[in-house]
Amino acid sequence: MIDPRPVLFSGVQPSGNLTIGNYLGAIGRFAEFSEKYKCFYCVVDEHAITVRQVPADLRRRTYETLALYIACGLDVEKNTLFVQSHVPAHAELAWILSCYTMFGELSRMTQFKDKSARHSDNINAGLFTYPVLMASDILLYRASAVPVGSDQKQHVELTRNIAQRFNQQFPDTFVVPEPVISTSGARIMSLAEPDKKMSKSDPNENAVVRILDDRDTVIRKFRRAVTDSGNEVRYSPDKPGVSNLIDIYSCFTGKDVASVEREFDGLGYAEFKTAVGEACADRLAPVQAEYKRLLADRPYLEEVMKKGAEEASYYAGRMLSKVRRKIGFVNL
Ligand code: TRP
Repeated sequence: MIDPRPVLFSGVQPSGNLTIGNYLGAIGRFAEFSEKYKCFYCVVDEHAITVRQVPADLRRRTYETLALYIACGLDVEKNTLFVQSHVPAHAELAWILSCYTMFGELSRMTQFKDKSARHSDNINAGLFTYPVLMASDILLYRASAVPVGSDQKQHVELTRNIAQRFNQQFPDTFVVPEPVISTSGARIMSLAEPDKKMSKSDPNENAVVRILDDRDTVIRKFRRAVTDSGNEVRYSPDKPGVSNLIDIYSCFTGKDVASVEREFDGLGYAEFKTAVGEACADRLAPVQAEYKRLLADRPYLEEVMKKGAEEASYYAGRMLSKVRRKIGFVNL
C-alpha cells in the first residue's frame, strides 16, 4: 500500500495571482516529478492565516489554487493534491515539533523578519512558528525532496535541523529532506526593474505577468517591458532587461539563447517584445481554458480534495502515531 518511490512534497499558499516565474520555475514543472517521486502537493491554507485574510477570499482561492495545479498539468491520479487543513495531523505534529525548535532559530528566519516588518500591526505567534508548520508538512510524509523557491530554502534548512535533532533523541523517525531549487525559470525578473526578481506581490502590476492574465494584458505588459539602451537582441550582463526577455522567450519556446539571438538579429526591440508576449500568451491559453473549466465544477474539485485528504491522511497518520509513540504519548 505504501509507495516505494522517494517522496516529494511541496506547498503553495492559496494567495492566488501566481506569476509566469512561479509557472516556469515551479508549478508548471511539477508534473515531471511524478515519474521519479511519489508526490504530494498541498494548498497550505493554515499557513495563509498567519496574515489577515478575508474568509470568503481565502475559501475561493483554495479552490482556485487547486484548479490551477490541475490546469498546469498535475494529474490527480498520479499525484496527491490536497488541502492542508483537511489533514489535522499537520497542526498536531506542528505542536510537537515546536517543542523541538528553538526560539533563537525561529528568530533568525529572514521571512519572519520581513513579514513582521510589513505587517507590524499583526506580529502574531503563528507568523513566528510558521516554519515549524512547514517542517511538519514535510516530515509527515517522509519527503526527501522539497521543491521551493530560493526564499524558502532557509525554512527547509530549519526542517533539516529539527529532523536531525529529533532523530538524535529518537533514532530513525524522520527522513531528512533536501531542498530542490529549480534552475531553469527560477530567475525570471521583473519587467520594470530587471535586477529584481518578478514577485507576485509587486505593487507595480506592469512588472509582473500572471498565469491568469488574458492575452491582451500579457502582450501589453511585454510591450511595456523595460529594455536597455541600444536595439540589439543580445544576451549580456549589461542588458538585464533584454536578457530577461530572452530567458522568458527561451523558456516558453524551448529555443536556446543563441538561436533566439539569431532569430531577432537585425530586428528591433519592439518586434522582439511582441514575439515574447505572443509566445507567453500562446502557452498560457490552454492552461487558462482548463482552469476556467475546472473552477466551474466545484463538485469535481471537492472530490479531488476528498480523495487527496484521504490519501494524505493515511501517510500522515502513520507518521504521527509513530511520533506519538516515541515521545511517550499513550496511543489508544
Ligand atoms: N512556505 C511556503 C511558501 O510560502 C509554502 C509551504 C508551506 C511549503 N509548506 C511547505 C513549501 C512545505 C514546501 C514544503 O512558499
